[in-house]
Amino acid sequence: MVVRTSSKRIVRILLVGDRGVGKTSLILSLVSEEFPENVPNKAEEITIPADVTPEQVPTNIVDFSLAEQTETELDEQIRKASVVCIVYSVDDEESIERISSYWMPLIRRNHPDSTCPVVLVGNKIDLIEYSTIDNTFEIMEEFSEIETCIECSAKTLKNISEMFYYAQKAVLHPTAPIYSVEKAD
Ligand code: GTP
Repeated sequence: MVVRTSSKRIVRILLVGDRGVGKTSLILSLVSEEFPENVPNKAEEITIPADVTPEQVPTNIVDFSLAEQTETELDEQIRKASVVCIVYSVDDEESIERISSYWMPLIRRNHPDSTCPVVLVGNKIDLIEYSTIDNTFEIMEEFSEIETCIECSAKTLKNISEMFYYAQKAVLHPTAPIYSVEKAD
């Protein structure tokens, strides 16, 4: 007997990351196609209808702000997410270090089976003239659920739609191994 599950699903993209890295700006830049000069603490949850997404799947984009929300709410949002984008600021080394010291352990605590894909997003590339991608390779090796890394700028709109597309793709076409040999005993 073949059991079919519904092919209709909603992709829920959650943006997390240290304060001031540009999470809200990224979402508002995507929606309005221009850089917001005045940014609220948190963007409203956004639903993008299937027919305007590259993968034809309805997509919710969720912002998180510790200025307005508690750590318990953060845990809850991480558990509900189909993919988590960890945003860091390319000109702020500490925000990169905190990916492995804080954000990935937090995501793993909420998804102990490591099934929630993660995308690393280096924002504010308009501020530097080099790439931080090399710095993320080690982190990607350590945490196999990190699907990919992308650098972008909410200010110049560079790679903004690509970043959300990568997040969607990480859910619909994951490349991370679904079976880890290391864990098999
Ligand atoms: P919290 O709500 O505190 O967690 O911050 P956030 O991560 O949502 O950052 P937010 O979008 O509020 O942006 C923080 C600051 O960075 C603001 O002054 C933005 O204008 C600025 N900013 C955001 N994105 C960019 C970018 O791509 N380039 C530059 N130069 N500045 C940016």
